[in-house]
Amino acid sequence: MVKICCLGAGYVGGPTMAVIALKCPAIEVCVVDISVPRIAAWNSDQLPIYEPGLDEVVKQCRGRNLFFSNDIEKHVAEADIIFVSVNTPTKTRGLGAGKAADLTYWESAARMIADVAKSDKIVVEKSTVPVKTAEAIEKILAHNSKGIKFQILSNPEFLAEGTAIEDLFKPDRVLIGGRETPEGQKAVKALKDVYANWVPEDRILTTNLWSAELSKLAANAFLAQRISSVNAISALCEATGANVAEVAYAVGKDSRIGPKFLNASVGFGGSCFQKDILNLVYICECNGLPEVANYWKQVIKINDYQKSRFVNRVVSSMFNTVSGKKIAVLGFAFKKDTGDTRETAAIDVCKGLLGDKAKISIYDPQVTEEQIQRDLAMNKFDWDHPIHLQPMSPTAVKQVSVTWDAYEATKGAHGICILTEWDEFKTLDYKKIYDSMQKPAFLFDGRNVIDAEKMREIGFIVYSIGKPLDPWLKDMPAVA
Ligand code: UDX
Ligand code: UDX
Ligand code: ADP
Repeated sequence: MVKICCLGAGYVGGPTMAVIALKCPAIEVCVVDISVPRIAAWNSDQLPIYEPGLDEVVKQCRGRNLFFSNDIEKHVAEADIIFVSVNTPTKTRGLGAGKAADLTYWESAARMIADVAKSDKIVVEKSTVPVKTAEAIEKILAHNSKGIKFQILSNPEFLAEGTAIEDLFKPDRVLIGGRETPEGQKAVKALKDVYANWVPEDRILTTNLWSAELSKLAANAFLAQRISSVNAISALCEATGANVAEVAYAVGKDSRIGPKFLNASVGFGGSCFQKDILNLVYICECNGLPEVANYWKQVIKINDYQKSRFVNRVVSSMFNTVSGKKIAVLGFAFKKDTGDTRETAAIDVCKGLLGDKAKISIYDPQVTEEQIQRDLAMNKFDWDHPIHLQPMSPTAVKQVSVTWDAYEATKGAHGICILTEWDEFKTLDYKKIYDSMQKPAFLFDGRNVIDAEKMREIGFIVYSIGKPLDPWLKDMPAVA
C-alpha cells in the first residue's frame, strides 16, 4: 500500500488529501500538523474550515484510509510520498519584507523530513512558493540525508476556496514538475499514477520544476489582472455613464477573452492573489527586471485603489462624514462559501470607515467575531495598504460590533455596505431593513448582487460598482 503524508492541515492540505483518500482507496493518507487544535477539529464533527461538500468527503474516508494526526515524525518516516502544504506568508521583516515569501515553515519542514526519514522519499511542493524553492529544499535534504535519496516535485494546487471539492474532483489540469533525470521522471510517474485514479490523462501535465513553480504564480497573476482590469474599467464606467456589467458581458463574448472572472468588485482578496503577485514582483526585481516588476505591481495598486475608491464613495455620499454613524457591513469573507478572511477587501474597507470614525456592525454567515477583531487589529505594510497606515487604536476597536443576524446588523444604520457576495444577501427582506434604518438610507453594493432599481423603489440611495450613478451620488463631490 502506498502511503502519503501531508504536512499542513490547512485550506489546501485538508481538502486535497481528503479527495485523494476518497478517490484512491488503495492509498493511506495521513495529514499532520503542528497545531493540536487544528488536528482535533479535523477529527471532530466541526471541521476547522468551511467548504461546501468537504464534510461528506471526510466522513466517507476518515478512519478508513484518511487520518489526521499530530504525530508528525512517525507519519513522515512511514510515508512514500510527502506533500508539503505549510503556510508561506509574505515576509514581515528583514530582507524582502512585504514582498518575498517567508519560507521559515517550509525550511523547518524540510529539515525535519531529512532528520526522520529512514527510506527514500518523494517530497512534493504543494504550497505556493517562489520559483527555485525546490532547488533550495533539495539542497537542505541532500546535505542532511545520511544516504537517503529524495526526489523533489512541484505540484501546485489550483483549487479555489468555496469550490475546492468541485475543483479537486474535476481539475482543469494537474501540474507536476520534476527533475529531468531518470529518477526525477520516475517520481513524476509515481505522482501521476496517484492522480490518474480520477483525472483524465490529458489533463495531467508534466514539466520541469521551474515551469511548474512559475505557472502557479503566473496563473494567479493573470487571474488577478483580469479583476484589476475590469475594476479599472468600472471606475471609468461610473465617470461616463457606461454600465460595467454590460461592458464586461460584451468584452467576455470575444472567445479570445472569455466570460469568466470579469465581475467588477470592491477588490479581490484571498490568500493567493496578492501574495503570489508580490512574490512574482520580488523575483523580477531580484532578476534585474524592474519594468516587469512594475507591470505586475500595478495589478495590486489598482486593487488597493478600488478599495479606497469604495470607502471614498461611502463617505462622500453621506455628506462627507460617517463620524458616529452606524454602517452595517454585510459579508466579511474574501468571497462567498468560505469563512476565510485572509486579505479580504472587507479589512481595508472597514479600516477606512473606522478611520473616518464610523461605528461598524458586521454580519457574515461564516466568520466569527474573534476572527474579525483579529483581522482589524492586524498591522499591515504601509505601502501595501494605503487607506489605513496605522494599526487600529483600542478606541477604534470598540467601534466595531459583530452580530449573527443581518437584520440586527442593519437596524438603525445610516448605510449598508455589501462586501461579500453571499447568496443570502440577494433574498433579504430589504423593505424591512429599510424601515428599520435612518433616513436617507444608503446601500453600497460592493459585489453587484442586489437589484439596484428595486432597492431605489423601496427608497434606498444605491451605489453599485461601475453602474450609472444615482442622481444623489452625482451631486456629491467627485471621488479621488
Ligand atoms: C485563487 C485561484 O482561483 C486558484 O486557482 C488558486 O489556486 C488560489 O487562488 P481563491 O483565492 O480561493 O483562488 O478564490 P478566487 O475565486 O480566485 O477569488 C479570489 C478573489 O477574487 C475573491 O476575493 C473574489 O471575490 C475576487 N473575484 C473573483 C472578483 O472580484 N471578481 C471575479 O470576477 C472573480
Ligand atoms: C485587433 C483585434 O483582434 C480585432 O478584434 C479588432 O477589431 C482590431 O484589432 P488586429 O490588430 O488586426 O485585430 O490583429 P490581432 O490578431 O488582434 O493582433 C494584434 C497584434 O497582436 C499583432 O501584432 C499580433 O501579432 C499580436 N499578437 C496577437 C501577439 O503578439 N500574440 C497573440 O497571442 C495574439
Ligand atoms: P494554506 O491555505 O496554504 O493551506 P494554511 O495556513 O491554511 O495555508 O495551512 C497551513 C498549515 O500548515 C497550518 O495549519 C500550520 O499549522 C501548518 N504547519 C506549519 N508548519 C508546519 C510544519 N513544520 N509541520 C506541519 N504543519 C505545519
